[in-house]
Amino acid sequence: MQVATIAFDRYNVLQDEDARARIVSARARLGKRAVLLVHHYQRADIYRHADLTGDSLKLSRLAAQTDAEYIVFCGVHFMAEVADILSRPEQVSILPDLAAGCSMADMASLAKVERCWRELEEVVGDPDTVFTPVTYINSTADLKAFCGEHGGIVCTSSNATKILEWSFARREKVLFFPDQHLGRWSGYRMKIPLDRMAVWDPDLESGGLTSEQIRNAKILLWKGHCSVHQMFQPKHILRFRNQFPDGLVISHPECAFEVCRLSDHVGSTEYIIKTIKAAPPGTRWLVGTELNLVNRLAEEMKAEDKTVQFMAPTVCMCSTMARIDPQHLAWCLENLAEGNVVNRISVPDHEAELAKVALERMLAAS
Ligand code: 13P
Ligand code: SF4
Repeated sequence: MQVATIAFDRYNVLQDEDARARIVSARARLGKRAVLLVHHYQRADIYRHADLTGDSLKLSRLAAQTDAEYIVFCGVHFMAEVADILSRPEQVSILPDLAAGCSMADMASLAKVERCWRELEEVVGDPDTVFTPVTYINSTADLKAFCGEHGGIVCTSSNATKILEWSFARREKVLFFPDQHLGRWSGYRMKIPLDRMAVWDPDLESGGLTSEQIRNAKILLWKGHCSVHQMFQPKHILRFRNQFPDGLVISHPECAFEVCRLSDHVGSTEYIIKTIKAAPPGTRWLVGTELNLVNRLAEEMKAEDKTVQFMAPTVCMCSTMARIDPQHLAWCLENLAEGNVVNRISVPDHEAELAKVALERMLAAS
């Protein structure tokens, strides 16, 4: 029998250790009915409870494969949306704290992308025959649906170059949103000249570009960025290289172009972890991505005599992802164990159908 939903208020005052014990006990009651998918940026006190961890691509595949009734997503809002879209209708996707958003995803909206599409039409004619819309997975479901509807596709940080190849095999140009840095770096890797990648500013008429600039561009890069990765700067790398000439630098492609260009390796969170784990003992690494991941890796790698250090001197964590704390996780799992679903992320059917088209194109192409 279902009982009334337990309110969050009383969990707010729980000590971390009490919350931890209650998470363990609620999970034991739920058994295989709940799976905890956890992104690499999660804080240690959440990460320790993970059933499965990964980058955005791996987590979307896992969400599509799990049989669990409840997919408890310890990540950010767009990730739980993807889990809802790719899982079966009877499965439930849950985000323990609804305030766990992604500031980059908020930098593009359907209204602004539709306006952009209309403005492009004035310059190139029907944009559906000229531009492939490519959305980074860090975006709202309605933008993925836009891509599904307009012959477009989703990409993640681990497959963006492949997805651009897929796109250029179909149409001459790409509109890439919302992360200009991932778009620029991936285009650069495909040898697209920098002057053929123009930044589209959604707050300006025609993106702030002339018709000539739009016609000349191979990729239009939406003016969006990650507030965490923009903190890493070339001077951090130069200082490190001065001090440790044999040291290696690895960055996430959400970093600015110059940071990526100065790095020895660039790739997704999963790629960063795999690369450092596979490196020989005695190596020293400077890492340009979120702090929780770097701290965890630094700790793990000590045993293998590898030094891992964070790129920026200022603290740089994904504060929205960190909203998922033991208190919220305990609250949501205890409710589930009582038969109450809280914080369900449910994408409307018509939107989910089209977004799934764009996501499945990505999964097939990568
Ligand atoms: P990954 O897909 O590399 O895990 O990146 C997700 C993300 O949000 C990075 O900021
Ligand atoms: Fe979004 Fe940046 Fe956080 Fe990744 S690190 S979830 S892009 S705000």
